[in-house]
Amino acid sequence: MIVVMGSVNADLVSFTKRFPKVGETVSGKDFAMFQGGKGANQAVGVSKLGEEVNFLGLVGNDTFGDFLLKSLKDVGVNTSFVKRVETKSGIASIWVNEEGENSIILSAGANAHLDEEMVSSSGKIFEKADYLLLQLETPLSGIVKASEIAKARGTKVILDPAPAMKLSAELLKNIDYITPNEVEISLISEGEDLIEQIKWLESQGPKALVKAGSNGAYILKAGKMKKFDAFKVKAVDTTGAGDCFNAAFAVSLSRGADIEEACRFAMAAAAISVTRKGAATSFPSQEEVEKFFERMKES
Ligand code: RIB
Repeated sequence: MIVVMGSVNADLVSFTKRFPKVGETVSGKDFAMFQGGKGANQAVGVSKLGEEVNFLGLVGNDTFGDFLLKSLKDVGVNTSFVKRVETKSGIASIWVNEEGENSIILSAGANAHLDEEMVSSSGKIFEKADYLLLQLETPLSGIVKASEIAKARGTKVILDPAPAMKLSAELLKNIDYITPNEVEISLISEGEDLIEQIKWLESQGPKALVKAGSNGAYILKAGKMKKFDAFKVKAVDTTGAGDCFNAAFAVSLSRGADIEEACRFAMAAAAISVTRKGAATSFPSQEEVEKFFERMKES
């Protein structure tokens, strides 16, 4: 069983030809509200790929909270550990341009309450977890606590260090896999280049897998850099692609794949997700990933 802990946001997304400059107004091409939040997105990714998932997160006591809970339940995420708190729900104001790139302003709302105390009082969720997925959009005290509970139980922990911030040795030693992108790894590690940065991270405990979007992904294999080429697709909206990657990576590992196979599976799922609008709404089913691999073999 996979457990995901983290943020849940209502994503208020404006699609536009280009981003406005300071003081400028531009016309949007479309607007939509989606369920988002790095944690909730990862939980949806796992569920859509057909695996059971328990989600630990917080929503506010507002209509966004109703929308978020319903969205998660509708795609089969177990929300019985999601609590409602007397505040606003997390909101992400997102702009997406014609290249599928995004800019995000995040208002944490209820997510800011997922601290050590809240995690300790939700201990039951970790009992049957084989894998725990974490990100950095909720308080670090809660993330450290969850990693400690997981480590003590022998649960494998996958940390997506997004949004990037300096991480303590105390946290890193509890992590089995860490999946930064190229910008994030330079912020959370030491070293002049990617290979040094990966080596530094791995000296702290976790196995590092660097997500490089349309450039693919990297791991260190027998001390040398191994690159995985990305699948070529036309990106419409890259929001949540990293979350989709982590969900699929965990699903594949939990089914017995090694890191290389899990990385390819995750890259395929993320490639499909960027061809559609929205974060979690764009994530693929197991069948879609299988069909994608078949199409890639033929072309
Ligand atoms: O990773 C994408 C997510 O980041 C969005 O869904 C948004 O909510 C922000 O948290």
